[in-house]
Amino acid sequence: MKLLFATTNQGKVEEAVQLLSECSVELLLLNDFPKLHSVVAEESGKTFKANAFIKAKAYGDVAQILTLAEDAGLVVSALNGRPGVHSARFGVSVDSRNQKLLKMLAGKKDRFAKFVSVLCLYDPVTEKAQYFTGEVKGKIANEIRGNLGFGYDPLFIPDGFDETFGELGNEVKNKISHRKQAMEKFKILVLS
Ligand code: IMP
Repeated sequence: MKLLFATTNQGKVEEAVQLLSECSVELLLLNDFPKLHSVVAEESGKTFKANAFIKAKAYGDVAQILTLAEDAGLVVSALNGRPGVHSARFGVSVDSRNQKLLKMLAGKKDRFAKFVSVLCLYDPVTEKAQYFTGEVKGKIANEIRGNLGFGYDPLFIPDGFDETFGELGNEVKNKISHRKQAMEKFKILVLS
């Protein structure tokens, strides 16, 4: 089966390639379709699900191939769920987003957070969409730790560990992450 994994996020690409490595699926990326360079998928939805659909449909309709897109983010309890769907736009750079989060949580006892991933599998022929959700619970560290992974990884300590995803690296992250949980559901329902 040929499948377009539609994301501009290199960190997600690396994880998806690893997570789907032993599956009978030929994973194609945005760069495999020159006509996708001009596609703009505006993430105007209020939910991860809505944004995952916007991305899958925008790219899938142009590429005319079965398309998997993901919307993900960090949901922080003490911030009433923020940054949530705005995780990628919480600041102008990865570092400013992480620093902003630390500042907003300064002095707070409640460090509970979770990463959420919603995958949307979109078929441009039938225009039908299927969704697969995963999450990993944990807490926000008191400082940035580690330089592995991407985004908020150096701040997120998954339950059962003392290190952040930024310290643990992809081998551990890909066993327990939100993306792994969502991909497993996708694999069981679609690929088996
Ligand atoms: P999206 O590309 O709109 O789904 O944006 C997701 C944003 O959430 C990313 O830019 C990261 O800031 C954050 N994010 C999502 N998943 C992860 C992850 O696995 N690790 C770290 N940050 C993540």
